[in-house]
Amino acid sequence: MNVLRQFSLEGKVAIVTGSSRGIGRAIAEGLAGAGAAVTVNGRDAETTQAAASAIVAAGGQSLAVAADVSNSTDVDRLIDATLERFRRLDILVNNAGISPYYKAAETMTETEWDEIMRVNLKGAFLCCHAAGRVMIPQESGRIINISSIGGTVALPRLLAYCSAKGAINQLTRVLAVEWAPHHILVNAIAPGFIETDLTKGLRENPKHLDSLIRQVPLGRLGQPGEIVGAAIYLASDAASYVTGQLLSVDGGWLAL
Ligand SMILES: NC(=O)c1ccc[n+]([C@@H]2O[C@H](COP(=O)([O-])OP(=O)(O)OC[C@H]3O[C@@H](n4cnc5c(N)ncnc54)[C@H](OP(=O)(O)O)[C@@H]3O)[C@@H](O)[C@H]2O)c1
Repeated sequence: MNVLRQFSLEGKVAIVTGSSRGIGRAIAEGLAGAGAAVTVNGRDAETTQAAASAIVAAGGQSLAVAADVSNSTDVDRLIDATLERFRRLDILVNNAGISPYYKAAETMTETEWDEIMRVNLKGAFLCCHAAGRVMIPQESGRIINISSIGGTVALPRLLAYCSAKGAINQLTRVLAVEWAPHHILVNAIAPGFIETDLTKGLRENPKHLDSLIRQVPLGRLGQPGEIVGAAIYLASDAASYVTGQLLSVDGGWLAL
């Protein structure tokens, strides 16, 4: 028996939110490479279409749906378009996220707090809720939430971001328990600092970059492609007895 077959996603259908760029795009390409048909998403129609077209050009199946995960009408459209095209939904990766502010807690405004919560927390809730409408009746499904090391440890100047990610960890655990009777497995991945647009500002400041790298036991930042294996694993039969877990892919940060 080929043991690697349990990692195959052949015949599965996935939605990866925020997959027009960065970690989400790498995960979408990875799931497609493992055999899944993948709906690619982002707010910008052009980059979303480009990411889906790249999957198709590489021999995979993909659909582009530009939608804002913090808007329930958009989320319903994302799910409905996927069902219309691929006829089922097996895997939801809640990856869409923002981190536009790096500032002292006392200077954060209510509007900034709400913006981060709306995308990073409410967005994941809305997508889980909408996916549940499909996964509960079919009595199967995988949900993978992209959290952060900031959901577990304090990252100063990222109060709202860390608060949202801590809540994502709890959303993962509660949903895992509530939906276990429906055979829907809910897990999270906690990346460390990864080289994407989201961390560009921090990385361009040599002082910040140096202090970040000093906190990583492996001594470097991660690449988007280094999150992919964890996502394929959690989406696959290989993880059939794993639910409610937070898998850190962080160069050892949380082990300190
Ligand atoms: N990079 C890191 O070091 C790191 C570490 C830990 C966790 N994470 C998490 O990993 C996830 C991906 O981060 P990343 O670094 O890959 O970010 P990124 O490069 O900035 O990409 C973010 C993606 O999300 C989309 N997006 C943003 N807001 C959206 C919305 N409201 N609705 C739909 N799509 C939206 C973006 O497309 P549009 O702009 O077109 O909408 C883009 O495709 C996030 O949840 C982030 O918190 C990242």
